[in-house]
Amino acid sequence: MIVGLDHIAIAVSDLPAAVRRLVEDFGLNCTATEDVKPATTQVAFFPLPPTSIELIHPLNGDGPVQRYLDKKGGRGGLHHISFRSNDIDADVARLRAKGYQFLSDEPQPGAHHSRVIFIHPKDCDGVLVELTEPATANEQS
Ligand code: CO
Repeated sequence: MIVGLDHIAIAVSDLPAAVRRLVEDFGLNCTATEDVKPATTQVAFFPLPPTSIELIHPLNGDGPVQRYLDKKGGRGGLHHISFRSNDIDADVARLRAKGYQFLSDEPQPGAHHSRVIFIHPKDCDGVLVELTEPATANEQS
């Protein structure tokens, strides 16, 4: 079941500059940065209860976020929204039965030991939608 808006992700080409902007100009707290190797991304999280902002940056200049930035001429942009699920396998099965296409066969390891999977944007009005099951699936924040 979808239980919340887990985060909104912005792709950035200069991660330290983007972190500084959110911390120094907007006054947000950066609570975690992490390399998510399965997704080839570096991420930084800024809690804004009940959701978060996630900055994502290509790890080692490679992967899907690098391709996204390349397509946009190196500029960043709103990359995806992530719905929090308390049972990602059930949600994937339910949506797949309705014809939704996913970008991977199974949920993948995400930041903070979560499990994540992306729905093809063509099935969601052009928006890349991620499902996130936090490590503690029933935790609400
Ligand atoms: Co995300």
